[in-house]
Amino acid sequence: MDKTWLVTWLDEALEISLLDSLREYVTAFREELAGQDGETLVLEATNDNLALRRDILLEELDQILASRTLDRARYYLRRLQRGVLEVRTNDVNEINLNRWKDYAEVWSDSLWVVPRRDSSGTHTAGYWGNFIPQIPRQMMWRYTRKGDWVLDAFLGSGTTLIECRRLGRNGIGIELNAGVAQSTEERVAQEPNPYGITSKIVVGDSATVDYAALLQQLGVEQVQLVLLHPPYHDIIQFSEDTRDLSNAASVDDFVARFTEVVAQVTPVLEVGRYLVVVIGDKYAKGEWIPLGFYLMQAAMEQGYHLKSIVVKNFDVTRAKRTREGLWRYRALAGGFYVFKHEYVLVLEKTD
Ligand SMILES: C[S@@+](CC[C@H](N)C(=O)[O-])C[C@H]1O[C@@H](n2cnc3c(N)ncnc32)[C@H](O)[C@@H]1O
Repeated sequence: MDKTWLVTWLDEALEISLLDSLREYVTAFREELAGQDGETLVLEATNDNLALRRDILLEELDQILASRTLDRARYYLRRLQRGVLEVRTNDVNEINLNRWKDYAEVWSDSLWVVPRRDSSGTHTAGYWGNFIPQIPRQMMWRYTRKGDWVLDAFLGSGTTLIECRRLGRNGIGIELNAGVAQSTEERVAQEPNPYGITSKIVVGDSATVDYAALLQQLGVEQVQLVLLHPPYHDIIQFSEDTRDLSNAASVDDFVARFTEVVAQVTPVLEVGRYLVVVIGDKYAKGEWIPLGFYLMQAAMEQGYHLKSIVVKNFDVTRAKRTREGLWRYRALAGGFYVFKHEYVLVLEKTD
């Protein structure tokens, strides 16, 4: 459908001065719309197409039809008109706040119970310790726009860079393990690149990479989102490399090294933009070690404002899957709970 058709339809609806006539006019459009297939109604326009969710639009028409006064019906019509004519976003994403109901796929609650990982396309569940693609995707929807630059300083299997390609964001990934980086590079290259964005992988230690020089090479000064998904200390040992955070000698050493990574990436993150840390806790010697809280505190001490603590359900790790009964027994006997969650910490760089 051409966008101008709907714009004219709305203009004409607002000219109608009798409630019954307006209802007839709206009913005709509602019936036509309800008879069509597809989740979205695409309104074609010269500058940018607009996609409206059909179910939401039907609800809006029902609201107009249920109005008891002409004034009320016109109020809803004008709201619909605003949503179609004006795009209102905040500075960091592309969510049209005038059509906020259209974005059901963008989560806004702090508890994420994700039933299954998205394993579509080139995503692989094969890398032990990877995160589900829904995490970087949600973060990019909320905190970036097309063409922005996203930095993932613990790249692993490249989940972030694959999502970057799908969503039209440029992506930079740092990975210490050269072998991992190479297979990630090959996998990322297989993902279609419809927006023609840059995917850059650097083999190195994220605590010592010269980020300013790297960005200069790429022709940009700053990035608009930083994602950090470090090892959860020594829960999974990723390599023998002493620079690997999973080889940190103690929890204090782990936190100190993470703090160093935050200190290094902060100057290249644009003010007003976001740092996202994905981290789970661990047990050691009968004690719950709150890595998530330690890292959150460390980031806040670097001048970040905490915007959200998201709790996400945790996939049972391969090692634990076969030993679930044993863990339950240990928990009952030892006075603790088996952890089933990890954190997505959202922090804003304010100055
Ligand atoms: C939890 S995994 C990240 C997984 C990733 N989000 C994914 O979806 O595949 C942590 C990664 O950090 C890497 N790593 C550990 N220490 C590092 C360091 N100092 N610099 C860069 N990468 C490091 C490990 O090799 C591992 O691949």
